[in-house]
Amino acid sequence: MHPDRTPVMAGNWKLHKGIHDTGGYVRELVQALKERGDLGCEVIIAPVFTSLAVALQAVWGSPIKVAAQNCHWEETGAFTGEISAAMLKEVGVSHVILGHSERRQYFGETDATVNGRLKATLAQRMAPIFCIGETIDQRRAGETERVLERQLNDGLAGLGAEALSTLIVAYEPVWAIGTGEVATPEQAQAAHAYIRGWFSKAHGDGFANRVRLLYGGSAKPDNVKEILACPDVDGCLIGGASLTAESFLPMIDAAASR
Ligand code: PGA
Repeated sequence: MHPDRTPVMAGNWKLHKGIHDTGGYVRELVQALKERGDLGCEVIIAPVFTSLAVALQAVWGSPIKVAAQNCHWEETGAFTGEISAAMLKEVGVSHVILGHSERRQYFGETDATVNGRLKATLAQRMAPIFCIGETIDQRRAGETERVLERQLNDGLAGLGAEALSTLIVAYEPVWAIGTGEVATPEQAQAAHAYIRGWFSKAHGDGFANRVRLLYGGSAKPDNVKEILACPDVDGCLIGGASLTAESFLPMIDAAASR
C-alpha cells in the first residue's frame, strides 16, 4: 500500500445473507468499528439487492459504505430481473461492483455490457468497483496482460479521467476466486503495477497515482498482510472471508494498521 492512497476493504457477499442475517451482522460490524475509532481505511459491504435497505439503515452514522453487486445500463424499461443505477441511488447505495468474473462467467457479461453499466453508475454519481482478471488458461498461455489491457480498454471506453475520478478497480484472478488459491504477492504486485501503468498511459501519472487498485481472490486473515504489503495493492475485495466479523474485522485491521 502507498501512504498517499486511502485503503479500501470491501466485502462482496455474493448470494449470501437475507434481511435477517444482514441486520445482525451489520450491527455487529458497526459496533466493532465504532470501538476502533478512526480507521484511516474505507470499509464497504455489498449485500444482495433485497438486503440493501436493511444494510443502509444499520450503517447509518457509521463510516461503512454500502455497495450493490451489479446494475443495469438503462434507467427503466422492459428488462425483467434487472435493477437500474437510479434505483440503487434512490435507496442510498454509494458504490456498485461491476464486471465481476462470476457475472462474466455465468451471466454473459461482456466488456461492452460492463461499459454500459459503468456509465450508468457514474451518471448517478456512484463509485464503480470495476473487476478485471484473467482465467488460469489465459495466465498459463502468458496472456494475463493482454486480457487486462482488453478489459481496461473496452470496459472503460469513452470515459475520461474526470468521469472516472471515483473509480476503484479490483484485480481478481479468476483462478483465485473462491478456490483457496491466492495469488502470490509477486503475481498480485505485477498485475497491479501493469494496471497502474495502463492508467498512467491512458489518463496520466496523477490519475494513476490516485486510483485505488484492490486485490481479490481468496484473501483471508492469514494472507492479507503480505498482499497489502505490495506497493500497488490498495486494499482487497473479499468474498468468503467477508461473511463473518471474525474474519472480516482482522482484515480491516490489517489495512488500517498499515
Ligand atoms: P473470494 O471472492 O474472496 O471468496 O475468493 C472474492 C470475490 O469474488 O470478490
